[in-house]
Amino acid sequence: MALVGCGSAVPAISVSNQQLSERVDTSDEWIRTRTGIGARRICSADEPLTALASRAAQAALEHAGWAAEDLDLILMATSSPDDLFGTAPRVQGAIGARHAVAFDLTAACSGFLFALITAGQYLRSGAMRRALVIGADQLSRWVDWDDRTTCVLFGDGAAAVAVEACPDAQNGLLGFRMHSDGSRNGCLTLAQTDTHTDVLGGVSAQVGGFAPLRMNGQEVYKFAVREVPAVLKELLESTGTPASDLNWLLLHQANQRILDAVADRFAIPHERVLSNLASYGNTSAATIPLMLDEAVKDGRVQPGDLIASSGFGAGLSWGGALLRWAGPQR
Ligand code: COA
Repeated sequence: MALVGCGSAVPAISVSNQQLSERVDTSDEWIRTRTGIGARRICSADEPLTALASRAAQAALEHAGWAAEDLDLILMATSSPDDLFGTAPRVQGAIGARHAVAFDLTAACSGFLFALITAGQYLRSGAMRRALVIGADQLSRWVDWDDRTTCVLFGDGAAAVAVEACPDAQNGLLGFRMHSDGSRNGCLTLAQTDTHTDVLGGVSAQVGGFAPLRMNGQEVYKFAVREVPAVLKELLESTGTPASDLNWLLLHQANQRILDAVADRFAIPHERVLSNLASYGNTSAATIPLMLDEAVKDGRVQPGDLIASSGFGAGLSWGGALLRWAGPQR
């Protein structure tokens, strides 16, 4: 699989730490020093997730030089769909990718990496040729805006990467690892509420609806600084790659302290660690492709660059992929 294009879209509305401190008891200083976050974007009513993801998809198609009709697959990683039956088909309809099968994949903040790896298997098997992998989340609709321990962390965004089948010599997915641990699910949840309605005498049914996002921040922090280095170590060892060969470390953007801790563990200079937390916070499934798109478009990531990426989050889930960026093949 070759990574040949990318694109992103973020909502126009940006909310600063200072603005949030008018809503909850927090401060710019607390949020910046504990997380590195300075602001986050929030979707407006007239630009829901489908619109954002469709804009990101269009941008990735243009960057790759593809037409929507060229796509065989649209895989959309999201945990905050516009439609629980699937948001990817809405995006497929919106961009006119009429030959593509489109479906969602839910793995929270690991979702984009899991989706990229999944798409890679279809391309490698020869079943499909061209795919768009989207990471898109609108967690602003699920955070409790009165809970200062979580609402300061998250934001909305969407980004997409265009990938295509290629000869082995050009393969851009050089290795991957994926893990889940459901026994620690309670650390970070966005769970169905426990409300019931009487249907008939003696028969009651659950009423659909989800509780706001709940997180044990310290447990998730400990999980991340333990498992992310471990999965990256597995990945580098299994592919015979010294950390010094990496051009970039591209981690899920949750907390600058996590990025720094992982980089230090591998003695990777901080200027090779990609971070846009200051502008967007944690956009869940969108963080990795959003960061990649920014670094490709501003020229930091160049064709041929080797990127170690790791996603982690609710599930609990985590994974890593060793990627080589190809760029548009024109
Ligand atoms: N503003 C001001 N104070 C806050 C606050 C906020 N937004 N949120 C929490 N606090 C307070 C707490 O109430 C606590 O006060 P207390 O000491 O009086 O009880 C104090 O700050 C320290 O809280 P603590 O939870 O120990 O802070 P922390 O250093 O662990 O940082 C996180 C909190 C959430 C930033 C950190 O745990 C973290 O980043 N965890 C990982 C989260 C993550 O990555 N989630 C996404 C995974 S995909």
